[in-house]
Amino acid sequence: MSINRGLKIAIDGPAGSGKSTVAREVARRLKLTYLDTGAMYRAITLKLLRENVDLTDTGQVEKVLERTVILTGPDERIYLDGEDVTAEIRTPQVNAAVSRVAELTAIRRKLVQQQKEIAAYAEGIVMEGRDISSRVMPDATHKFYLDAALTERARRRMREQHSKGLFLSFESVYNEIKERDRIDSERADSPLEIAPGVQVIDTTDLPVEEVVERVLQAVNRHRT
Ligand code: DC
Repeated sequence: MSINRGLKIAIDGPAGSGKSTVAREVARRLKLTYLDTGAMYRAITLKLLRENVDLTDTGQVEKVLERTVILTGPDERIYLDGEDVTAEIRTPQVNAAVSRVAELTAIRRKLVQQQKEIAAYAEGIVMEGRDISSRVMPDATHKFYLDAALTERARRRMREQHSKGLFLSFESVYNEIKERDRIDSERADSPLEIAPGVQVIDTTDLPVEEVVERVLQAVNRHRT
């Protein structure tokens, strides 16, 4: 039996804070399941965009939700009704719409329920998102919030886009992240916030490896 069995690590933070890279590496080092909950919000956003759903029409949103199956697979693949949409959920169109979708209570209710179930059945997990410490895994064994200055987060997001051959202007990336921060923090249902008892790490001037080490050290210091 793995000594890491039972570890439930929550990592929250805004876009570009480094949480995906860090959460993925922490999961790899501790041999735990890794779940990127943002990818699930992105997958449902893709479906609503494809079907041209009016987001203010709750009835229509709920109908689409009823016939939607989002599954996460090995190697961080994500499936929307059986279709592999791993690449398509990272397009600028989805980036621009996802915060609006993540505001909707019907959407959050369904995805949070699914995420809670994944956490309950996993032997040990690293889950990243916006509301993991507060809503999805309030019983997490370890809780972190990664943050970084907005300009640095925009720079990172831009580099990531460049590596995929997407050459957007710095200004457009900066403004998109700023707007996403605003919507994610101001929404009524489970806003992005620092929950009590969470360890905050400012990653602005830290290399990824250093952040990973800090998380691992904290996990090793406080094993429940
Ligand atoms: O982490 P990301 O950029 O892939 O997240 C995409 C969007 O989904 C982001 O704008 C906020 C939302 N989200 C959320 O509301 N709750 C989560 N647990 C994860 C993501």
